[in-house]
Parts: sequence; structure tokens; C-alpha cells
Amino acid sequence: MAKQINVGVVGCGYWGPNLVRNFRSLSDCRLKMMCDINKERLAHVRSLYPDVEGETDYRHMLNGAGLDAVVVATAVSLHYPMAKASLLAGKHTLIEKPMACSSEQCEELIDIARKKGLILMVGHTFLYSPAVRKIKEIIDTGEAGEIRYICARRLNLGLFQRDINVAWDLAPHDIAIILHILQEQPVSLNCRGTAHITPGVEDVTTICLYFGNERSAIIHNSWIDPRKIREMTIVGSKRMIVYDDVAQQEKIKVFDTRVERPPHYDTFAEFHYAYHYGDMYVPYIKQEEPLKAECQHFIDCIHSGAAPLTNGDRGLELVRILEAASQSIKNSGAPVDLSHRKVNGNGNGNGNGRNDSTPKKHGAASPLGRTKRKPASARRVANLHASLM
Ligand SMILES: NC(=O)c1ccc[n+]([C@@H]2O[C@H](COP(=O)([O-])OP(=O)(O)OC[C@H]3O[C@@H](n4cnc5c(N)ncnc54)[C@H](O)[C@@H]3O)[C@@H](O)[C@H]2O)c1
Repeated sequence: MAKQINVGVVGCGYWGPNLVRNFRSLSDCRLKMMCDINKERLAHVRSLYPDVEGETDYRHMLNGAGLDAVVVATAVSLHYPMAKASLLAGKHTLIEKPMACSSEQCEELIDIARKKGLILMVGHTFLYSPAVRKIKEIIDTGEAGEIRYICARRLNLGLFQRDINVAWDLAPHDIAIILHILQEQPVSLNCRGTAHITPGVEDVTTICLYFGNERSAIIHNSWIDPRKIREMTIVGSKRMIVYDDVAQQEKIKVFDTRVERPPHYDTFAEFHYAYHYGDMYVPYIKQEEPLKAECQHFIDCIHSGAAPLTNGDRGLELVRILEAASQSIKNSGAPVDLSHRKVNGNGNGNGNGRNDSTPKKHGAASPLGRTKRKPASARRVANLHASLM
């Protein structure tokens, strides 16, 4: 039986308790400790989970609790120092999104994890959601045709952050989904943003990403919108997909809708765009909490040694886009060239490349020439990668 992984979560504010609940529900790990500097907050989560130890001092959590893995769920400005301390203390580390405040910080964390042979994962939660997996599956079959353009809207009233603007808070979800769907990094972007409530902290932003082959994506984020909207429209040459993450049912709709130009025509009178309006269908999506799948994936990667789907490189490429967006806002929406900022390394700290899910410790051919059955953790990692690639 695989060794139980002892996990600690630092940051028990809004999001941390969701991580606590999910890690606690997994059978092959033990949620051993929760840490929050705020005593009242810690007392509250301990009242919910009295069997889990509590700590207010992060250094004590790292050095005295016998943890194998640490999950960082504090404000973004604390991600880098806390993740660095965790990795240097020899702990596998899951950092909430966005990975850090700068690409230099991300690179340093990737480097430490690689040198120490530790798993470094970033909480790009939506990539573990059944809806996004289904969309990727539909696109990968070629049903939607060539993807031409994606439009994402993630809006609501609050929760206002002080250390980051709304793009750094909400766009990571959309960027992660878009990069995952297109399997491509943008060549340039521009972004406009305005600060209406907190001076200097943009609460409305619009990022335009440009990819090769005339493909583009628009991401609109706002903390000052009356409705909670989490919507993405993916326009392909054959089908159009609308993903509404707020919908309880029918989260994905696939429209058999397209526009075509006539291949050739001799007179203007002959020229007509061909509009096609066909059926719409709603694919079945399994009910599964994305965060639970993410937490399980982290534990599986620790057991198997495989690179997480959302490893340090994925965190770094996302932070580079956010940095470029901030740079563009400062320059009144001027375009930023990203073609030289591509991420090529492995980012996991264990020598695995972008989509390399090959477990390094298990499942190898035995000395007798028979292939050993992979442990459950390695099979789950391989299945998840397969379903998402
Ligand atoms: N994956 C997702 O879908 C998702 C959703 C929401 C938030 N998040 C991310 O989760 C992280 C936390 O966001 P939040 O909204 O919960 O923030 P929050 O401010 O509500 O909570 C942060 C907690 O960290 C604690 N803290 C601060 N300094 C500390 C220290 N030195 N030691 C221990 N604890 C300390 C605070 O007391 C607070 O309770 C952010 O990175 C955010 O981007 C991710």
C-alpha cells in the first residue's frame, strides 16, 4: 500500500477551507495541519475540523509537523515566499493561482523544485472540471473544426483584492482554459483596465490575446458587475460551443452554426455568405467537484512522480501573460510582443516535459520482462492526462 501523504494547508480564509475539505476527503492522504496567522479564523476552521491540527506560525508548520506536502492558499503576494520556504524545507508544494507575482519568482520556484526533485503544482482548478474536459474532448475530435476565436466573460460584484487587480484575480481561470484548449501560447496581447473603486487597482479589465493563424481570444473581467457571469464562447469553423459555468445544468451547449464564404464568384450579385443554422445539443457532463480532482491529482503525482497537468511551467506561462497585461495597461493598451517569452522547460522539478505524464517511479518493465501493473495513483494520472490532452 502506498504511503499516506501528510498534507498541510496554509491560509484558511475564503478558499483555503475548500482545499481543507477536499484533502480531508481523500483516502490516500492525511490532512494533518491547517495554518492561519489569524487566530479567530483558525479557531473557526478548527471548530469545523477538530481532528486536524492548527498552527498560527508557518515556520512551525514547515519544520515541526512532519508534513510531506504543503498547499499555499494565502494572498498572491505571499505565494512566492511561502512556496519557496516550503520547497526549501523539502515539501511537495501546491500553490494557488496565480503562481506568483512575477515570472522571475516562478522561474526560481521551478528551479528549486527541479533541483530538489519535488512536485510543484499550481491550482488552475478549471482544467480539472468535467465541463472543460468535455470541451477539450469535443475540440480534439475535430467536431468543432478549426478554432477561430474565444470570448470569455468572468464578472461579479467583488471580492475586491488589494494586492492584485481583477485580471490577476479572475483571468487566470480563463487564460488557463484558453491555453489548454488551443495548446498554444499567444504571440502578443493588449489590455485595457480601469480602477473605479480602489485607486490604482483596476476592477475592470479586457485582455485581447493573439495567437498564430489569425486566432484570437478576448477575456473580460470585472468586480463591479451586478451579475455573476462565468461564460466562454468558443467559435470553431464547424461548431460553436457556449460554456456557462454558472448554469446548474446544461453548462455546455454545442451549436451547429457557422458562416462560410463562397469559394469563388464572378459577379458581386453571385456573392453570398452561407449561414448555417443547425441543431444545438447539450452533452452529458459528469457531476464532480473540480477541486477534488485537482487535490487527488496532486497526491497522485506525489505517489507516482509524474508531472502535474498544471505544473510550474503552466503557472509561469500564465504569469507571463498577466505581467504583459499589466505592462499593456500602463501603456494605455499598447500591444506587448510575447513571441520571445515562450515557456519550453519542464517546470515540475522531476524532469518531465509539457504533457509528459509518464510516472518515473512506478510501472516500469520488471527485470523478468513483464510489465508491472501501475499503481492506482499512476493510472489516475495517466487517465487524467489522456482525457485532457
Ligand atoms: N482556484 C480557485 O478557484 C480559487 C478561488 C478563490 C481563490 N483562489 C486563490 O486562493 C488564494 C487565497 O484567496 P482567498 O480569497 O482565500 O484569500 P483570503 O484573504 O480570504 O485568505 C487568505 C488567508 O491567509 C491568511 N494569512 C495571511 N498571512 C498569513 C501567514 N503569514 N501565515 C498564515 N496565514 C496567513 C489570512 O489570515 C487569510 O485567512 C489566492 O491565491 C486566490 O487567488 C483560488
